[in-house]
Amino acid sequence: MSKPVVQPKSSDPVWTDIVTQAQETARDEPMIAGYLHAAILNYDRLEDALSFHLAQKLGSAAMPSMAVQQLLRTAYAADPDIIAATRADLTAVLERDPACNSRLEPLLYFKGFHGLQSYRVAHWLWTEDRKNMAFFVQNRISEAFGMDIHPAACIGRGIMIDHGTGVVIGETTVIEDDVSLLQNVTLGGTGKEGGDRHPKVRRGALICAGAKVLGNIEIGECSKVGAASVVLHDVPPRCTAVGVPARVVGNCCDQPARTMDQSLPEV
Ligand SMILES: CC(C)(COP(=O)(O)OP(=O)(O)OC[C@H]1O[C@@H](n2cnc3c(N)ncnc32)[C@H](O)[C@@H]1OP(=O)(O)O)[C@@H](O)C(=O)NCCC(=O)NCCS
Repeated sequence: MSKPVVQPKSSDPVWTDIVTQAQETARDEPMIAGYLHAAILNYDRLEDALSFHLAQKLGSAAMPSMAVQQLLRTAYAADPDIIAATRADLTAVLERDPACNSRLEPLLYFKGFHGLQSYRVAHWLWTEDRKNMAFFVQNRISEAFGMDIHPAACIGRGIMIDHGTGVVIGETTVIEDDVSLLQNVTLGGTGKEGGDRHPKVRRGALICAGAKVLGNIEIGECSKVGAASVVLHDVPPRCTAVGVPARVVGNCCDQPARTMDQSLPEV
């Protein structure tokens, strides 16, 4: 007979939701119940579970998982904004990814989410002037998750990086809140400029699979960049840009990153 589900005591609704999902999954899939206990149900707080889980993935011969876990816990204790951003990111994935059915899934299984959360700690290290440590974490992110985010890049909250594979985000990139990026997006330099040379992606924008956005250009608020486009110039707010090189082909729905509306506007 299965055990009754124990109601979680946390006052954090996001964590309570995750614990409930983990309890139900442990009951339905006994083969991964031990894993769910080790990764989720042994903990009282999101930050403790996340630090354990990411550390398992980021640990290496050079820095074992326990040392990584300690590093992550230090970052979360020093800067509560990191976990506040994590909560917003989890909700973003649940709301926007049609393949996602609960917050438990990105936390356990989605490497775009794992890479983004690991970047958040690398960025904290960068702002603490621990640049070598930040590069160390960046390198482990690229090895473990196949995505390369410079720790100096500035990334807001409520971000979804779907799939994660092949995503490259350069040093002086700015990504505002509520942006969605799909796999193989490059936010890079043209190779012709130094200094502040990377894109600025404004709030609510959607950048689709394989798009290359090159140079210190702006992707305007709530704009949309089509798959495989090469964007070399600013895209105004609430516009859709597609092609190689990209051109604006029309307006855009209100919140493309939230709705994940990837249809083309009528031209
Ligand atoms: C090709 C590149 C080097 C620019 O070369 P450039 O000779 O200075 O070219 P310009 O920017 O002056 O553009 C010349 C024309 O080529 C077009 N163009 C530039 N890059 C292009 C590309 N990748 N694909 C298609 N057309 C391109 C421009 O739109 C422009 O067309 P137009 O004259 O009709 O407006 C640059 O755009 C590029 O691709 N750099 C590599 C960046 C990269 O890989 N970054 C990743 C870092 S992680």
